Amino acid sequence: MDKLPSYSQATQRPRRSKFTLLLTLCCVSISALVLSAFRIDLSQQSVELPLHAEEIVQKCQQLNAKPGPPANFHTRTQSDRFVSGTQATLLRNASIWTGNDAGNEVIQADLLLDKGIIKFIGHARQSLLDNYEDLVTLDLSGSWVTPGIVDLHSHLGVDSAPALRGASDTNSRKGPILPWLRSLDGLNTHDDAYRLSISGGVTTANVLPGSANAIGGQAFVIKLRPTDERSPSSMLLEPPFTINGSVVDPSLPPRWRQMKQACGENPSRVYGNTRMDNIWAFRQAYDTARKIKESQDNYCSKALAGQWNELGDFPEDLQWEALVDVLRGRVKIHTHCYEAVDLDGLVRLTNEFQFPIAAFHHAHETYLVPDLLKQAYGHTPAAAIFATNARYKREAYRGSEFAARILAENGIDVVMKSDHPVLNSRYLLFEAQQAHFYGLPTNLALSSVISTPAKVMGQDHRIGFIREGYDADVVVWDSHPLSLGAAPKQVWIDGISQLESPHVSTKPATSQEAPTTPNFDKEAADAVKYDGLPPLAPVRSKTGFIVFGNISSVFARSGGEIQQVYSAMDVSERGVVVVKDGAMTCHGVKSNCLDALASVEDAEWIDLEGGSISPGLTTFGSPLGLEDIQGEASTQDGYVLDPLSQDIPDILAGHELIRAVDGLQFASRDALIAYRSGVTAAVVAPKSRGFLSGLSTVFATGAAHKLEKGAVIQDVAAIHIAIGHGNSGPSVGTQIAALRHELLGHAAQSQFSSLSKGGIPLVIEVQNADIIASLILLKKEFEQHTGGKLKLTLVGAAEAHLLAKEISEADIGVILTPSRAFPSNWESKRILPGPPLTKESAITILLAHGVTVGVGIEEQWSARNTRFDVAWAALEGDGHISKSQALALSSVNLEKLLGVKAVEGDLVATRGGNLLDLEAKVVSVISSQRGLVDLL
Ligand SMILES: *[C@@H]1O[C@H](CO)[C@@H](O)[C@H](O)[C@H]1NC(C)=O
Ligand SMILES: *[C@@H]1O[C@H](CO)[C@@H](O)[C@H](O)[C@H]1NC(C)=O
Ligand SMILES: *[C@@H]1O[C@H](CO)[C@@H](O)[C@H](O)[C@H]1NC(C)=O
Repeated sequence: MDKLPSYSQATQRPRRSKFTLLLTLCCVSISALVLSAFRIDLSQQSVELPLHAEEIVQKCQQLNAKPGPPANFHTRTQSDRFVSGTQATLLRNASIWTGNDAGNEVIQADLLLDKGIIKFIGHARQSLLDNYEDLVTLDLSGSWVTPGIVDLHSHLGVDSAPALRGASDTNSRKGPILPWLRSLDGLNTHDDAYRLSISGGVTTANVLPGSANAIGGQAFVIKLRPTDERSPSSMLLEPPFTINGSVVDPSLPPRWRQMKQACGENPSRVYGNTRMDNIWAFRQAYDTARKIKESQDNYCSKALAGQWNELGDFPEDLQWEALVDVLRGRVKIHTHCYEAVDLDGLVRLTNEFQFPIAAFHHAHETYLVPDLLKQAYGHTPAAAIFATNARYKREAYRGSEFAARILAENGIDVVMKSDHPVLNSRYLLFEAQQAHFYGLPTNLALSSVISTPAKVMGQDHRIGFIREGYDADVVVWDSHPLSLGAAPKQVWIDGISQLESPHVSTKPATSQEAPTTPNFDKEAADAVKYDGLPPLAPVRSKTGFIVFGNISSVFARSGGEIQQVYSAMDVSERGVVVVKDGAMTCHGVKSNCLDALASVEDAEWIDLEGGSISPGLTTFGSPLGLEDIQGEASTQDGYVLDPLSQDIPDILAGHELIRAVDGLQFASRDALIAYRSGVTAAVVAPKSRGFLSGLSTVFATGAAHKLEKGAVIQDVAAIHIAIGHGNSGPSVGTQIAALRHELLGHAAQSQFSSLSKGGIPLVIEVQNADIIASLILLKKEFEQHTGGKLKLTLVGAAEAHLLAKEISEADIGVILTPSRAFPSNWESKRILPGPPLTKESAITILLAHGVTVGVGIEEQWSARNTRFDVAWAALEGDGHISKSQALALSSVNLEKLLGVKAVEGDLVATRGGNLLDLEAKVVSVISSQRGLVDLL
């Protein structure tokens, strides 16, 4: 940068030339020109220059410079993040999704990674390779390659795993307006989740402060890999100038900054505010920033015109500088905002203060108001959403699985995000897979977790695409990235491979292509037509006589197992299933079912297009059936009183266990959506915050009310308790003492007396292996003492894999909730992550030891995904878990572990594949217990 001529003391006042005026207006950033203009003028008049005139002039010239890479960025030969010593890597014969052409381009090519960037794409000739001494060469044989996954909304490092009081740096409670805070200041480099998320292909994340504030602070874009420096700062991707104390380089454009905002419930709730208060807080803050900006602009127009007299200091305020930068269009604004009322308020705010919003996050109602989004100042914000995580509060109640496709149809950029650890960002790709399943086109589904978030953050000059000169952040997949269970074979960040001896499970050949997705046109149209609340009640078949044709396979319950009872070997001769009064009367090739067919002559005929009949699945682990909206107490059964930590009122003092059946609520949207996804039954235990829960019940998810035939499948299933460090009650030892007392102390009067008679199971929610070990010993003690047998089932069980052998020997069952563990807490931190980090998953290792394994969920919205959870478990099983075994995980196994008496169970018809396929749509439920056939 040129030095100013020596007029730093009082010299002469430069005349405001036309040339400098022009510079002031168009803000050319080439300061040398301005300075030479000054030089010309200096001799003519006198002026009092402030001490730091040089810096001020630079600052003024930079004031409205637009952020972005330097003009010559793409000629770089080495990344600023290159780690010396990193070997160059050649990936031969890759099927590359580049992100180009709106995500439509796929090329077969070699990829050369060197100096932290993608050096070459194409057919790598020997002459090129001769330049490298120790080139790592991998033959990919056509494997899928994409750029690294980019998470637009993460709390990695600020909401760390395992969660500890000392490591929750997500939300400041110091007021609704905090644009001066920086997530970087809380970024924990020891979050267990970095490694897990990398193993899901995530390479970059936007780490946002939480949503407790209208303006929560500045977000920072990080790469997830460990660095030699081991510091938060060294994880930053292209940090804005000034973050490390460096001054703005006036020869370069500034870099994009990121800011978190939130409207609606969260910021309002924290400060006891209303929505009106929250928007006023925004307006007040932006008005403060606007005033500073205007005084800066006035100041600079004078300074650049050489009118220094009495100009004083450059007006700035450290607290507000980031918000002023927002008004200068130099900050990507990420606004957590759900409902039409809040989106409208924010769109008005953008126009009042004239700044663009990069993306609305969560944004559950954006698909209902696309035209409102288009009225936002500057450009239409992107919508960053979950695929199916919805209805957890009023704001999310109208969330739709079709939102992604509807937004895309309206020309709005769609981003799928994790809100990690709300969703484990390791599985961010699953969000894109679901969005695709529900109708988002392939190109946009892949873009939604790769190129689009890169663009929304202003980082698409270096990440989000496979292009020469881009960062060498690359994932090689074991299957098409939109196929269920797709996992990385290897991940590179800045050209450095991240997985040490990755375990790759063999995927079915069919999963090398993007799935063929079902037709949901009517459902998507209805979501909009009914303002987010389309009717979900199933249509009942009037006759109950149905013939399902064009069937590929039939799975059925048989002797406590699931068996495939029919498989169409030949596509030209597919099978039929004849259904009468809710029961399957015949299945197989048509010629085998002639009698059955004759008995239902006027039957409805339904073409399943290669589909399947399988047992209805059962869900367990969430409060489904006891609450409609997680965040709204008035929609819920509520919590039981815990005798270990609370006084039980006299009126309850009969040692009665609370029965979930008495509090059942039917026809919640989550229950009906689960039903429509093949989950026809649910087991639910009373909600508890402590040790004792009570007696679970089994109900039909598709029933309208409790008095309907078959609505309650079983009044009482099992006794449920929880033992853990997280419970609000006393120590683990005390909790186990209470259990011992109930089991052994006064067995005759005990609430648990039915256990000793070998009756219903005792189901214990427990995560930690040490506590599990104590329970194994207690079971032995009980059985020696009483001579009876204790049916014991562990739920949660994140660390159960550590004791697989002992659990098996003690004849204890395990229900993994969730089916893919995350080390949320200290007591569940020793998870077995599964491929590609470990060969075995918790499920495969427990099954290998002969343990009866079921899988469950934590939150009720996810009941609908049960079919994919079990399919995924099988895909991780490397061929050792059959389709029947997968279905058993959430049907017969689960039922056995929870004391559900042998039931005939429902059947589910799927079109276009079987229940485990991310291609098939559930079209009908056949229920013999309820004596009906529902058409969905
Ligand atoms: C690339 O891999 C595919 C799939 O294995 C194979 O058919 C093809 O021959 C390979 N091409 C080259 C150039 O090696
Ligand atoms: C601050 O960061 C910039 C950009 O990454 C870098 O060029 C500069 O050397 C850093 N300064 C210090 C003092 O670390
Ligand atoms: C059977 O299903 C296939 C799809 O697997 C479809 O192409 C075909 O038209 C169907 N046949 C009949 C007779 O409906």
